[in-house]
Amino acid sequence: MKLRRSVVVLAVGLTALLAAQTGAAGATVPPPSHSAKPPGATVVPPDSLRALASKVGLRIGTAVNTDVLATNATYRQITAAQFSTVTPENVMKWQVVEPTKGTYDWSAADQLVNFAKTNGQLVRGHTLVWHSQLPTWLTAGNYTSAQLRYLLRKHITDEVTHFRGHIWQWDVVNEAFNDDGTMRDTIWLRAMGPGYIADAFRWAHQADPKALLFYNDYNIEGLGAKSDAVYALAKQLRAEGVPINGIGAQGHLDTKYGFPNQMRQNLQRFADLGLKVALTEVDVRTTLPVTTPEQLAQNADYIQMLEACLLVRACISYTVWGFGDAFSWVPSVFPGEGSADIYDENLQPKASYFALQQTLMLASGAPHR
Ligand code: G3I
Repeated sequence: MKLRRSVVVLAVGLTALLAAQTGAAGATVPPPSHSAKPPGATVVPPDSLRALASKVGLRIGTAVNTDVLATNATYRQITAAQFSTVTPENVMKWQVVEPTKGTYDWSAADQLVNFAKTNGQLVRGHTLVWHSQLPTWLTAGNYTSAQLRYLLRKHITDEVTHFRGHIWQWDVVNEAFNDDGTMRDTIWLRAMGPGYIADAFRWAHQADPKALLFYNDYNIEGLGAKSDAVYALAKQLRAEGVPINGIGAQGHLDTKYGFPNQMRQNLQRFADLGLKVALTEVDVRTTLPVTTPEQLAQNADYIQMLEACLLVRACISYTVWGFGDAFSWVPSVFPGEGSADIYDENLQPKASYFALQQTLMLASGAPHR
């Protein structure tokens, strides 16, 4: 494992970096007030992640497990108090919203949208076009290419229309590339060719012209073959006038792989295309049981991802993929790994939570977004 700098050293480094960026004037826009509390909303403490991030105009988000949200008061309280955006972890996916062909079930997603409204949060919609979590009627339906194109257009149009006006950012297309930069072989690529991506953005834009439309993927946080491929796609889409507004780098890290290569520079090159960027699914898994060096490495990864985002003005949100280890997707997919989140199994904040909090406290010189 690579040696990591301590939290304090990183935080001090961030302060110096930000000071250098801001220049002598160091002017920052006053933070929006969090004192006005809508009826039913949870109190937002001034030292919460969302309040601290609001001082530089950054949104801090979390993926939400709506089953837990409905049953666990502590989970609800933390979701509302600490985060200014929410992403449905599963309940806007096609498998959930249209389990039977032609019959929609928006109930869980609607509840989350209402929760967000009550608590002054924005919503990241996730996700319209993916190869995973598709309904069986679709994958086993033996549809022709023309029929699949029709069904995808209808799915995007119906879902975006249902939530029109309530979604800040949509993950329109998710995980369309392989790690070597080639396009992933999916039901959509086979049916429609590479042009399905541009079509998906156009259809989503028609249904909600005000939503910010994102391409979202993992292993594109740093410079490399996959992010190069996404960069080439983004550049081409922009040149063709396709309504794409942003790139989401998921940020699923693992301490055994070290930190992605030049993340800030990578985010900046997307920004230089006129796009927003976002960290959309941040978590940092490690082998269990967690050793002290691994925990320090997790803290450092959380901080460095936040720093990369803070230093790029176009980076508008930093979202963790759930906040409680008890509800993380990691252990079921990576047996023997876990502890990826910023709260422990009992919903107590971990060192990585305090690392993010401290980084935000020191970030007042970051460019306001
Ligand atoms: O809801 C059903 C339940 O009815 C059934 O009894 C149970 C049996 O397995 O499955 C439940 O569905 C599970 C669902 O999560 C809700 O808990 C699925 O099996 C399970 O596969 C699904 O996992 C989700 C995964 O995406 C699907 O690929 C994870 O929760 C979710 O965190 C994960 O999120 C993805 C992002 O969408 C895209 N980026 C990567 C990220 C992590 O894999």
